[in-house]
Amino acid sequence: MATPVGNIFSTNITPDRETGIGSYTLVDFDNAVRKGIAKDGHRLYPAMPYPSYAKISDDDIKTLYEYFMREVKAVVQPNHSNDLSWPWNMRWPLSIWTSLMTDRGPYKPDAKADAEWNRGAYLVQGLGHCGACHTPRGLAFQEKALNEGQANYLAGAKLDNWFASNLTGDTISGIGRWSEKDVATFLKTGRNKHGAAFGTMTEVVNYSTQYLNEADLNAIAKYLKSLVPVAAVASPDTRGGKAGDVRAGGVIYARQCEGCHTRDGAGHPPYLPSLAGNPVLAEPDAASKINLILNGSSRIIANGVPDIYRMPPFRHLMTDQDVADVVTFIRSKWGNPSDAVVVQDVADIRKTTDSTSDRAIVLRMR
Ligand code: HEC
Ligand code: HEC
Repeated sequence: MATPVGNIFSTNITPDRETGIGSYTLVDFDNAVRKGIAKDGHRLYPAMPYPSYAKISDDDIKTLYEYFMREVKAVVQPNHSNDLSWPWNMRWPLSIWTSLMTDRGPYKPDAKADAEWNRGAYLVQGLGHCGACHTPRGLAFQEKALNEGQANYLAGAKLDNWFASNLTGDTISGIGRWSEKDVATFLKTGRNKHGAAFGTMTEVVNYSTQYLNEADLNAIAKYLKSLVPVAAVASPDTRGGKAGDVRAGGVIYARQCEGCHTRDGAGHPPYLPSLAGNPVLAEPDAASKINLILNGSSRIIANGVPDIYRMPPFRHLMTDQDVADVVTFIRSKWGNPSDAVVVQDVADIRKTTDSTSDRAIVLRMR
C-alpha cells in the first residue's frame, strides 16, 4: 500500500505457525484486529483499519478467529519489511496515536433507529471500514470522523491517487439522487445506472461487497441514504499553475472518448457509464478522473465473470496537457459543475502511478 509516508506491506494472516498467525490465541487475534497490537507487542500501522474494526462485536471476532484457524489454508511466506523512513518507521508513537484516534469499544446500537439501520451502521463503520477511504483524514493521518454523528463522515477523500466518492446525501457530488436499490446494486455488481466502480473501489467490490447477502446490502444502503448531505471538498494539495483548455478538450473527447461515452455524455449504462449527472464528475477533486484516464480501470469480476467493457489507459497516447484538457472538458459539460484542472496535477499523478489494469484479474487467477 502506497501511503504518503512510504510503502506499507500487509502481513501473512494465514494460520501458518512460523510466518503467519497460527500461534495466535483468540486474545492475540482480538488484540491485533480490534486494538492494533501484534502478538509480539508491536503496534500495527493504521493502514490496517483497526480504528474501524474496534467496532466489531465480541461474537463476530470469535467467529472470525475460528474461520481463520479452521478454514484458511496455511501459507509459508515471511513478511516483507516496510519502506518507511524516520520518524514514520518508529512504532512507539503509534500507541499515542491509537489512544487518541480510536473510538473505544464495539458498536453500540442507536435506540432511536430500527434494527436494519443499526445493522447497516455496524457493517459500514466496522467490518466494511468504508470510512478508511471515504472519510477525509487529518494531519495525523487519522480519519476525521468515525460515525455519522461527527462532521464530514464519509464525505469523500483522496487516498492512493483516487478520490473515494462522497457517500452522503449531497445531490451533486454525493449519492443524493441514488435510490437505496441503486446503492445495493452498485455494491453487488460494481455498477448501476449512474456509474461504475473503478480504482480501489473495484477491489472492494471484487473481494468484499459482492459477497454480502441481500439483507446486509439493503441495510448498508439504508444507513448510507440516511447520512446528512455534505458537499465534498478538494484535497488541499491541488496546486495552481497552467490549467486545461475546454475547447482543446472537446476535440480530444470527440476523437478518443465519444465512441464509448457518446457525444451527449449519456453513454450506455450500466456498462459504459454516463458522464452526465454522474457524481464522480461533480467532485471538486480531479484525482479519480486523471488517474482513470492515464491508467484505465481494472476489471470488475462479479459472480465469477470478468466484465467485457473497461476504461482503456491513455497514458501513452496523451500528454499531461491533453489529459488536463479533456478532464476540464468533461467536468464542464452536461451540467457538471466543476472548474478547470491544473496540468501539474496530471504530471504528479502520472509520476506516482502505473497502468495496473490487469492487476485484479491476475490476483484472482493465481
Ligand atoms: C480501499 C478504499 C475504499 C474502501 C475501503 C471503500 N471504498 Fe467505496 N469507493 C472508493 C473509491 C476510490 C471510489 C470512487 C470510484 C468509484 O466511483 O467507483 C468509491 C466509490 C464508491 C461508491 C460510488 C459513489 C459514486 O458517487 O460514484 C459507493 C456507493 C461506495 N464507494 C460505497 C462504499 C461502501 C459502502 C464501502 C464500505 C463497505 C466502501 N465504499 C469502501 C474507495 C473505497
Ligand atoms: C472502450 C470504451 C471507452 C473509451 C474509449 C473511454 N471510456 Fe471512459 N469508461 C469506460 C468504461 C467501461 C468505464 C467504467 C469503468 C470500468 O468499469 O472500466 C469508464 C469510466 C469512465 C469515467 C468514470 C465514470 C464512472 O462513474 O465510472 C470517466 C470520467 C471516463 N470514463 C472518462 C473517459 C474519457 C475522458 C475518455 C476519453 C479520453 C474515455 N472515458 C474513453 C469505457 C471507455
